[in-house]
Parts: sequence; C-alpha cells; structure tokens
Amino acid sequence: MPTLLNIQSSPRGNNSISRTLSDDFVTAWRVKHSGGRVILRDLADNTIPYVGVPWIAGIFLPADERSPEMRQALDISDELIAELFAADEILIGTPMYNFTVPANLKAWIDLVVRPRTTHSGPPERRGLVTGKTCKIIIASGGAYDEGLPAAASDYESGYLRRILGFIGVTDVEIILAGGTAAVSFGSTTVEEFVAKYRPAVLAAVG
Ligand SMILES: Cc1cc2nc3c(=O)[nH]c(=O)nc-3n(C[C@H](O)[C@H](O)[C@H](O)COP(=O)(O)O)c2cc1C
Repeated sequence: MPTLLNIQSSPRGNNSISRTLSDDFVTAWRVKHSGGRVILRDLADNTIPYVGVPWIAGIFLPADERSPEMRQALDISDELIAELFAADEILIGTPMYNFTVPANLKAWIDLVVRPRTTHSGPPERRGLVTGKTCKIIIASGGAYDEGLPAAASDYESGYLRRILGFIGVTDVEIILAGGTAAVSFGSTTVEEFVAKYRPAVLAAVG
C-alpha cells in the first residue's frame, strides 16, 4: 500500500487556504488508496531546529565518530529523511511568505538536503530520493500565474522545484492558489475561494 508524506507549514489552522486544499487532497487520496498510509509532518509548531555547527560537522563524519551533540543534532534530520524515503508520494501545503518559502519549510529543507544521504555529494551531486511524485499547493495573497506581471516575483515555485530536483524528486506538480487576499479583505469566503482550486487539487490526486 502506498504512503503519502503530508508536509504542512501554514500556522493558520482552519483559516489556512493551503491546509484546506491539502485536506481535500488527502481525503481524496485516502479514498483512492484505501489502506494507504499518511505521514503528517506539521511544521507549524516551529519545533524544527535550524542547522548549526554540530549538524554541519556531524554530517561529514562516520556515525560512530560523532559526538553526542552531533548525534543529537542529526537525530531529527534522520527522522525527517526517513519519512521522505518512506513516502511514495509527497504533498507540500505551504503559504508564500515574502515571495518564497516560510522559514519553517526552509528549516525542513536544510535538514533533509544532506550529502551522501539524500544526494550523492560532489562531484556528481546525484539526487538519491528517486521514484517519488510531489504535489505542492502554494497559497499566496497575490496571484503569480505564468503570464501575470507578478510571476517574476514568485521565488517559491522555482526554488522548490530546484531543491527537490537536487535530491532526486523530479516529478513535481505545483498548484498556485493565488489571490487569497480577497479572503483576507472579506470580498470572498474561504469556501468560495477554495472551490475555485478544488478541481485542480482533486485532479492532482490522479
Ligand atoms: C509573513 C507573511 C508574508 C507574506 N508574504 C506574501 C508575499 O510575498 N506574497 C503574497 O502574495 N502573499 C504574501 N502573504 C500572504 C499569504 O501568502 C497568504 O495569506 C496565504 O493565504 C497564506 O497561506 P495560508 O492561507 O495557507 O495560511 C504573506 C503573509 C504573511 C503572514
């Protein structure tokens, strides 16, 4: 039975557009893969640490030569990477913050992109997380779809494609749920807004 890794980063709970659409995805995914396993990695509690010297020094040493401090720093990285390898499919639900990924999602990326673990390291830098698909739902106040003037300011989609591709996740589909400012300013409701994007989300389940 397939496994879905569901990574969520919005802190806004039920008010979050990326979470609401992600919930729709997961519900449809469960129907399609009855008995499938869903691993939820919720980054909104902000418990993922930033990388520091013990992590950076530790990744270059064999496991049995790491200090207790290095081992502790690598534990969470190992756990997140194990979730990634366990998944057949990955879902990322995220806001756009300041034209790119929120800090909690960047912290996750820094911990899972690791030489000789998720990519081969130099010289070839081959991605090792292969054979997976990834769907990404990005909610943003403005709209950044191709052809719009703001598209050039979307530093999130291209970045996520690039970094996921770097570790071997090349089959990536992105749904841009742009224009959520209309909900924030009260000119539409979450339900009306989400209804516009639901067909694309359900289609992404396949
Ligand atoms: C700190 C912060 C930065 C934001 N930066 C942007 C931005 O650069 N571009 C944009 O279109 N919307 C921006 N927004 C709006 C959010 O992307 C928007 O509210 C989105 O719906 C949040 O996702 P969520 O509904 O899943 O929480 C920002 C919101 C916050 C709180």
